[in-house]
Amino acid sequence: MSELHEIALKILSKGKGILAADESTSTMTKRLDSVNVISDENNRLLFRQTLFSSSSMKDCIGGVILYDETIRQTTSNGETIPELIHSNGSLTGIKVDTGAKILAGSKEEKVTEGLDGLRERLKDYYKLGARFTKWRGVYSISDKYPSKLSISANAHALARYAALVQESGMVPIIEPEVLMNGNHSAKDCLNITSEVIKKCYEELELNNVDLKGTILKPNMILPGENSNEKISNEEIAELTLDCLKNNVPSSVPGIAFLSGGQSEIEATTNLNQINIKNNTGFIMTYSYGRALQQSALKFWSKDINNINGTQEVFDHRAKMCTLAAQGKWSENLENL
Ligand code: 13P
Repeated sequence: MSELHEIALKILSKGKGILAADESTSTMTKRLDSVNVISDENNRLLFRQTLFSSSSMKDCIGGVILYDETIRQTTSNGETIPELIHSNGSLTGIKVDTGAKILAGSKEEKVTEGLDGLRERLKDYYKLGARFTKWRGVYSISDKYPSKLSISANAHALARYAALVQESGMVPIIEPEVLMNGNHSAKDCLNITSEVIKKCYEELELNNVDLKGTILKPNMILPGENSNEKISNEEIAELTLDCLKNNVPSSVPGIAFLSGGQSEIEATTNLNQINIKNNTGFIMTYSYGRALQQSALKFWSKDINNINGTQEVFDHRAKMCTLAAQGKWSENLENL
């Protein structure tokens, strides 16, 4: 088994998932503003260090994705953040794109940037302890969009990123996110997500990326957040599985979903259904940001020195997600 394949499996196996704590400073500031906590370097570190030293890290969290600021920080105990993550048996990941910028040629859409100088930045991140990385492309659904140009430009960038990451000895997470914004149907989401993912794998193959050493991080198939369509969790799971079975090559070891604005319970319920019905051969787990951190952030904001209390809230969420990643979750476990 190749080293990259081993890393991917270590992150995703045994019901473990990924904690996406890679909010850029501006996104983290929005999150902290929303709970009335000042967004300074110390507070950002304190919240994240609190999560990364939680007891659920060992059994639930196979990898943590960091932002550039965090991978360079040292905890109050004097260890670096990657050392803290590693001491809990988890792997350090790093977001390496530099954000979604307006796409010249289709100015209402975005293309993710960050390829210039990436080879050198990756060497630095490896030395700091990273063993996997993330790059996110974003696509909106509307009457006209996404355009062929945005599907093609983002797939090209994702594939060139992935090839560079593997060259540097790390596992790339490929994240093409079809956003929930809008009033589109679940069927529209299925069609667009299928086209987006298919194009990504065309480009990944063209760039000679070893798919066994990659992880796919897609959206689930959902109606737009402003759509009136009512759809059950079972249907969401079926559509999501159909999309992935038909468009993801079987050599990909695992799929780790983003939560994309779903509530914690929705994201857990849907992942659980996906695993109950999983007939794809892929590991299906989570790589959640908001759906793992929301309650913990709210609790922490009331008293930022209540470390144990915050960890209890986070541990509960992480355990629920890990059960869902095995199809063993049920709603009554939420209140135990
Ligand atoms: P959410 O789970 O909050 O969508 O975040 C995951 C992520 O990494 C988005 O890029």
